[in-house]
Amino acid sequence: MPGGGVISSPADTMRVEAPVTFKAYLMCAFAAFGGIFFGYDSGYISGVLGMSYFIQQYENLDPATTPSDLFVIPASRKSLIVSILSAGTFFGALIAGDLADWFGRRTTIISGCGIFIIGVVLQTAASSLGLLVAGRLIAGFGIGFVSAIIVLYMSEIAPRKVRGAIVSGYQFCITIGLMLASCVDYGTQNRTDSGAYRIPIALQMLWAVILAIGLFLLPESPRYFIRKGQKEKARDVLARIRGQPADSEFVTLELDEIDANNQYELLHIPQGGYFATWFNCFRGSLWEPNSNLRRTILGTSLQMMQQWTGVNFVFYFGTTFFQQLGTIQDPFLLSMITTIVNVVSTPLSFYAIEKFGRRPLLLWGALGMVVCQFIVAIIGVTDGHNPKAISSMIAFICIYIFFFATTWGPGAWVVIGEIYPLPIRSRGVALSTSSNWLWNCIIAVITPYMVDSDKGNLGPKVFFLWGSLCTCAFIYTYFLIPETKGLTLEQVDKMMEETTPRTSAKWKPHSTFTAEIGLVDEKTTVGPTVTQQEV
Ligand code: BGC
Repeated sequence: MPGGGVISSPADTMRVEAPVTFKAYLMCAFAAFGGIFFGYDSGYISGVLGMSYFIQQYENLDPATTPSDLFVIPASRKSLIVSILSAGTFFGALIAGDLADWFGRRTTIISGCGIFIIGVVLQTAASSLGLLVAGRLIAGFGIGFVSAIIVLYMSEIAPRKVRGAIVSGYQFCITIGLMLASCVDYGTQNRTDSGAYRIPIALQMLWAVILAIGLFLLPESPRYFIRKGQKEKARDVLARIRGQPADSEFVTLELDEIDANNQYELLHIPQGGYFATWFNCFRGSLWEPNSNLRRTILGTSLQMMQQWTGVNFVFYFGTTFFQQLGTIQDPFLLSMITTIVNVVSTPLSFYAIEKFGRRPLLLWGALGMVVCQFIVAIIGVTDGHNPKAISSMIAFICIYIFFFATTWGPGAWVVIGEIYPLPIRSRGVALSTSSNWLWNCIIAVITPYMVDSDKGNLGPKVFFLWGSLCTCAFIYTYFLIPETKGLTLEQVDKMMEETTPRTSAKWKPHSTFTAEIGLVDEKTTVGPTVTQQEV
């Protein structure tokens, strides 16, 4: 609408967005901090399982008399200790969606931090398997709240043009958490007291405390208040988040569109009791691209695919896998290097996800990972004992982590925050996050059995499996992932109604829910400031 103060068509309305202040960006970005303890908690265990003092204490072994190949945590316990966290997280994430709708996104995240701290206290106090496992289960439950609802919260408060980058910031924090964990493990591994594992465990409380205090100061999501029918509260928080006066046109337009989208969706989604509303997540047919069933399957399967990339094989079992390769001098250092590659590569996605879009990123990422994984597997079976071959395997593992970190790592979280309509969004994101943890757990349980020398003894051959699964991820993306770049969450909703995944990138916004359900006239006159800030 150059040259005038009139929003002359719904399409114009769709393009108007408040200029976002630096403070507003910071507010959105802080929430990403939640990723730190997701990453740290999943990461510290890899090193702890390889620590002599931990093995000695938990297995009652004497390092002086036990042969080194028996001085390990057996596969069954390793799998229990690692996977129990993901099991707790699965259940935590599953119920978190409801809590986020009842009590608010912030309250749910802050409660998650509290539960997590209880779990960490138990783990720190533990000196035997029972308490450690109970502590990890409870901590996992808290992480479930945080990991599901942070993504929902961030997607709901971020401005559309940087939503992908901001949610990728969450992934960045996950990678920092993983790296911090392996650095702390590296620093304490040789201690000859329980500090070796208790320090890495106890440190996690710090992240939870920082996140809880920060969120206490941040505003609630405006979409939560719209769902509750409290439009004026929604207006106040939106004004804070965008750094604009509550009565500005920007805030009014954005708010009206969120409200109209919610009303539109509610018209199409029958309401009812508790179970009926859960059923809404599975309503519709698999063949309609915009049905709720289709979106729920999309979100949950996308997170499943993210785990199928095999990335956590490297982060959970990396240290012990490198130990088993034999000639490697310092497996702890190598594990740390993989986590550093993960951290330094992730910021590339902030740019790439907004520039190229979600679909191309996921497609190219899957392809890159397939190539690296097959190379690692082929080297492993042909020349797996040659130190030079082992070095090139490690190099390709690092390149594979690079591809994951710049594409599927952030991409999966960004997309699940975008594809659900408001009435089922919190449950949809929660279900998708649970799926991430379910598959995370399944992989953590079965991998030691597949790989360890006294079990399936697959060794590096396991990369054939990850490579094949990444091939599935490529095909899956091609047929099923829509392009959501640059659209508001409400526009994504419309785009999914009107396109198929393969044609979605060409879709342009052409109408508003506000006009469609008649909240305001199609021709809305607004002040000149809107024109000046046209995007
Ligand atoms: C995944 C985690 C993984 C991490 C690695 C996340 O997106 O969900 O399972 O450990 O990325 O960076």
